Amino acid sequence: MNELFRPILKAKIVPVIKLTDIDQVTGLGNALTKAGLPIAEITLRSPVALECIKAMKDEFPQMLIGAGTVTTTDQADAAIEAGAVFIVTPGFNPTVVDHCISKGYPIIPGVTSPSLVEWALERGLTRLKFFPAEASGGANYLKNLAPVYPEASFMPTGGVNKNNIKEYLALPNVYACGGSWIVKTALLEAHDFAEVERLTREVLDSIGGNS
Ligand code: 3PG
Repeated sequence: MNELFRPILKAKIVPVIKLTDIDQVTGLGNALTKAGLPIAEITLRSPVALECIKAMKDEFPQMLIGAGTVTTTDQADAAIEAGAVFIVTPGFNPTVVDHCISKGYPIIPGVTSPSLVEWALERGLTRLKFFPAEASGGANYLKNLAPVYPEASFMPTGGVNKNNIKEYLALPNVYACGGSWIVKTALLEAHDFAEVERLTREVLDSIGGNS
């Protein structure tokens, strides 16, 4: 898990990406590679997500590809089968989390409360997702969790954007931020991959990611 996290810790961002057509894969992979962000959390909130994960893995084997919005054990199996190397869940569903652990799938579960943090820690999971971050109390909430759970660290996602990302990343218990604002579906659908690359680079530069 630590090895897997290295690129995420270095980049400090994980783009949550909704691909709506297989024809977006090549342009997206090239844009992220050129921008220096070889990471993609491909959300399963699209009927072509699994197909896209497979195509992305085949075409860009150097990229760290995860599956997001995984809410069932079947989805977790299908995502790993398609080539995802990590699973991100919006909530903490013990059935899904325990299935991933038993199968050896790296998982970043979503949490929003001390109880859920404890469920994660009890299972040996320390790198968590804080979702929905802004609606759940934002950076101030995480600041309050830090002294109680020093071993837990978080990837805030949900309402994170270029205006508040630095506040999150300044916290010692935040290892990265996620979000759909980094790679916008509308740009993928317009095949404006130059803009995807430009915006990704801009975000990385603004936070000192990958430096
Ligand atoms: C997710 O899937 O993790 C969230 O929906 C992303 O939230 P955002 O769209 O506010 O970035």
